[in-house]
Amino acid sequence: MNKNESAAWPNEKVNLEGKLALFSEQWSPRVVGGLNGQLLKLAKLEGEFVWHAHEAEDEFFLVVHGALTIRLRDRDVDLKSGEFFIVPRGVEHCPFAAEECHVLLFEPANTAHTGETNTPRAVPPERQARI
Ligand code: NI
Repeated sequence: MNKNESAAWPNEKVNLEGKLALFSEQWSPRVVGGLNGQLLKLAKLEGEFVWHAHEAEDEFFLVVHGALTIRLRDRDVDLKSGEFFIVPRGVEHCPFAAEECHVLLFEPANTAHTGETNTPRAVPPERQARI
């Protein structure tokens, strides 16, 4: 591949509603696109996740449906549909959703969604399905 050739995918429009209709599992991100070594992922969240931090990656959360609170150690960030927040690298966070919410994530391809935290709920990046 020519080094100037883009590895971005997919080379077609993506409809978030259509992608969200393809899965129901919670806390299990699905990969819907990639560019510049980073991935776009959709996830369905409900309840509380685990406290974790990503030592080397900033993490972007855009709420597509519902409401999400990103708990930080010093404050809560309340997001509703159409709002996003970027968790800086190294900052501990714990996503919480009282009811199921749908989010778009944007992060480097090798980012573990539970960060440095070892938990059975972790889905390693290589097992996060492309849809
Ligand atoms: Ni995180």
